[in-house]
Amino acid sequence: MDFRHQVLSLTTLSSLNVDALLLVVAGDALDTPLDEKLKAPIEDAIAQGDFQLKAGRTLYLHRLPGVRAGRVVVSAAPDASPKAFKAAVAQGMAALKHTGAKRVGVAAWGVEPEAAHAEALVAAALDATYVYRHTKPSAPPAPVTTAVTLVVDKAQVKAVQLGLTRGRAIGSGVLLAREWANRPGNHCTPTLLAEQAKKLAKSHDLNVEVLDRKAIEKLGMGSFLAVAQGSEEPPRFIVLRYQGAARTKAPIVLVGKGITFDTGGVSIKPSAEMDEMKFDMGGAASVLGTFLAVAELKAKVNLVGLIPACENMPDGRSLKPGDVVTSLSGQTIEVLNTDAEGRLILCDALTYAERFKPAAVVDVATLTGACVIALGNHRSGLFTADEALANELQAAGQAGLDPCWRMPLDDEYDEALKSNFADMANVGSRAGGAITAAMFLRRYTGKYRWAHLDIAGTAWKSGAAKGATGRPVPLLTHFVLSQAG
Ligand code: BES
Ligand code: MN
Ligand code: ZN
Repeated sequence: MDFRHQVLSLTTLSSLNVDALLLVVAGDALDTPLDEKLKAPIEDAIAQGDFQLKAGRTLYLHRLPGVRAGRVVVSAAPDASPKAFKAAVAQGMAALKHTGAKRVGVAAWGVEPEAAHAEALVAAALDATYVYRHTKPSAPPAPVTTAVTLVVDKAQVKAVQLGLTRGRAIGSGVLLAREWANRPGNHCTPTLLAEQAKKLAKSHDLNVEVLDRKAIEKLGMGSFLAVAQGSEEPPRFIVLRYQGAARTKAPIVLVGKGITFDTGGVSIKPSAEMDEMKFDMGGAASVLGTFLAVAELKAKVNLVGLIPACENMPDGRSLKPGDVVTSLSGQTIEVLNTDAEGRLILCDALTYAERFKPAAVVDVATLTGACVIALGNHRSGLFTADEALANELQAAGQAGLDPCWRMPLDDEYDEALKSNFADMANVGSRAGGAITAAMFLRRYTGKYRWAHLDIAGTAWKSGAAKGATGRPVPLLTHFVLSQAG
């Protein structure tokens, strides 16, 4: 999809040469100027009780006299914020979904579009047109929209261009993450995920290294291998590198949980909804998506991506409850629950991260059901003891409309991980499960600034709209860009 801007006054909006006009009406817009050919019918619809200026309401107008766009959709936003604008654009795009509108013009009445609005527009438009086809080629065709033009004031051109560029890059990253997270376990194995990473490296001039089981053994990642040992699918450890700054500049390291299917292992999960555990590589997918976005934006940073990828399966060779494994760090772990496998693969990746002398490490994982209970599906869980990093990640989430919420990491929570047979157990009690998972990871991250994002509630949607969201690619990309200074 093509995104552009066009300088045009709202008082001559009827001249805009597009197939459909999507007019977002925000706040007190009605008191401000708008082309009468549009304003009159909108006011009339309001007077007739056919349209209200309330979030979620849309009005479809066909072939308005004197208006060049054959279709006009008016979409109400409660205020001028990028968040409200995004929701209104999404509503409007949905109203145009089954029309023949190829070129859509978007204008904002009562909002002065800034960079964040432009970025939000791209996100909403791309979101509206993605269709998963990899294992369903018969899926209905995507909406026919191929070009979206944002109407702007002359003074806003620079900002809007920046927003559109950022939106396109983040949008590509989100789509890549959604696509791979959506693919079922038999179409997204550790091997296939690594092949996608290689493909991405080739197309975007990244450096990639893929370690196989032998190489992982040689490194001594005993904890990661312990999870992988129960599967016929060979594990992969993916190392991606993007260089956008001087070699001497310390990199940001992103670590993504890449469990391509999580049965729970011997501590097997109930069957209901187990299919959703194909999304357990959502963290890995978001790291790939972030690399795509960052590379497209040519951000002046150095970035390393680490993805431990394997399946968690029950098998004659599987890890058993009570088994003690030795991690790359040398610390031993008593595996009391084989379903707490994410932390077992992440801890070795976090130790591996030390070799890059990172400026900061952020791991991203669909780590705990407890995080979904705590925060639901709107905000990812953020865990870090570093105040500055917490602020930076929270700001990045806000800027990308991909929010997170900080959770505690007090030392007291660590007591839950005590074991009589190893340096630590891999689980505590049920209480505070998202926090004890983070406390486990913390034991491997003493040598650098570190934050953990639990995306169990945000990486995908369940129910009728089941599918990956591509989160937290917007948050991560904004964070990486913010580190470029
Ligand atoms: N991948 C799951 C976490 C998960 C579960 C995410 C449900 C989204 C929905 C993870 O590997 C897991 O199974 N965690 C366990 C940990 C427990 C055994 C301490 C959980 O959350 O139940
Ligand atoms: Mn699990
Ligand atoms: Zn898992």
